[in-house]
Amino acid sequence: MTEKLENCRRLSVPPRTIMTPGPVEVDPRVLRAMSMPILGQFDPAFTKIMNEVMEMLREAYQTKNHWAYPIDGTSRAGLEAVIASLIEPGDKMLVPIYGRFGDLFVEIGERYGAEIHTIECPWGTVFDPEEIISEIKKVHPKVVTLVHGETSTGRMQPLAEVGRACRELDVLLVVDAVATFGGTDVKVDDWCLDAVISGGQKCLSIPSGIAPITYNERVEKVILKRKKVERGIATDDDRKAAAGLLPIRSNYFDLSQLQDYWSERRLNHHTEATSMEYALHEGLRLVLEEGLENRFARHRLNEAALMAGIEAMGLELYGDPACKMPTVTCVSVPDGVNADEVRSVLLNHFGIEIAGSFGSLQGKIWRIGTMGYGCRQDNVLAVLAGLEASLIRCGADVNRGEGLQAAMNVYEKQPVG
Ligand SMILES: Cc1ncc(COP(=O)(O)O)c(C=O)c1O
Repeated sequence: MTEKLENCRRLSVPPRTIMTPGPVEVDPRVLRAMSMPILGQFDPAFTKIMNEVMEMLREAYQTKNHWAYPIDGTSRAGLEAVIASLIEPGDKMLVPIYGRFGDLFVEIGERYGAEIHTIECPWGTVFDPEEIISEIKKVHPKVVTLVHGETSTGRMQPLAEVGRACRELDVLLVVDAVATFGGTDVKVDDWCLDAVISGGQKCLSIPSGIAPITYNERVEKVILKRKKVERGIATDDDRKAAAGLLPIRSNYFDLSQLQDYWSERRLNHHTEATSMEYALHEGLRLVLEEGLENRFARHRLNEAALMAGIEAMGLELYGDPACKMPTVTCVSVPDGVNADEVRSVLLNHFGIEIAGSFGSLQGKIWRIGTMGYGCRQDNVLAVLAGLEASLIRCGADVNRGEGLQAAMNVYEKQPVG
């Protein structure tokens, strides 16, 4: 073995406390579930697990939708599957943008031939729902897309009013709840959301690589109009039904085919990612065992302690507080401080990772995630301690010792659990 290969013999993963807006630390119970033996994808023992995943997803999404199942791939695979399956070339798609992930909807929609209409509001704020509704009335889109929790700015867009308006105006509302699902309410039915996409590596605390989605009959009706079963497995009836149709442009992301695999028919599509399915099953069990209300309260408590600590340290929180995401806290980088240098000191000395941001916010804010398993008192106190020490190391002027005390006061007033 060469010296180079010799160095590759052992996987080396340093211990870390991950306080970014994802990926976050995976719950040890999920890691254990992932080490279980592989089952065949049509084995009744496995299809039972699939059915349980669907049942738990409905509960966590607070929906009566029949369709609630994961797409194999990261969260953007879920976004792409929904857009690919709904958009035909020339369809109008309205995309309100208040951060980076609104732009991702534009990217995906354009590639599937949508006629894109955008409205924008300044980063650090969200839209007044009326503004979106009046644009919907002007554009008459087939689909409106909205990001629920915009991790690039730490803001959360209220959805209920827009959802109701979309239902009245017969427009489909597609929501990116990647960074909110499992950490704060995502009321699919009450808010009239037609399709919702989430991700594993955020508040569910499972690894990246699986994207749970849900959608209602309004969406299913559109999808089924372009249903085509793959050549190699189609029956004569399937072929007759698809004659003359323009199929969904993507094979991998064709929800009309995927839902056949997630139904009694169990029609083969791709090979299911078995270990990720186990991870999602265990991740959802953890969410439902804790209870949605308790879980959301835990996220709010740790957020409150983190914010109190940051402010007591003399740092400023970034963005409009009225629409802050409970799972992501953005901090303005003080003048004269090098944002990346502070992050490096924090990582190298404390093993704690926080995130920077994108585009115009690069170098201007830090983003701290309090999500899922990582959303804990010990982690919040560790990040405050490490951040203060790293800031001092990098020459910043902070109120020494005050951040931790302020956070501890929050916990003492309302102890966890
Ligand atoms: C709000 C939001 N949407 C979409 C994505 C894309 O997710 P992924 O990287 O899992 O494809 C992210 C990732 O950070 C996100 O935060």
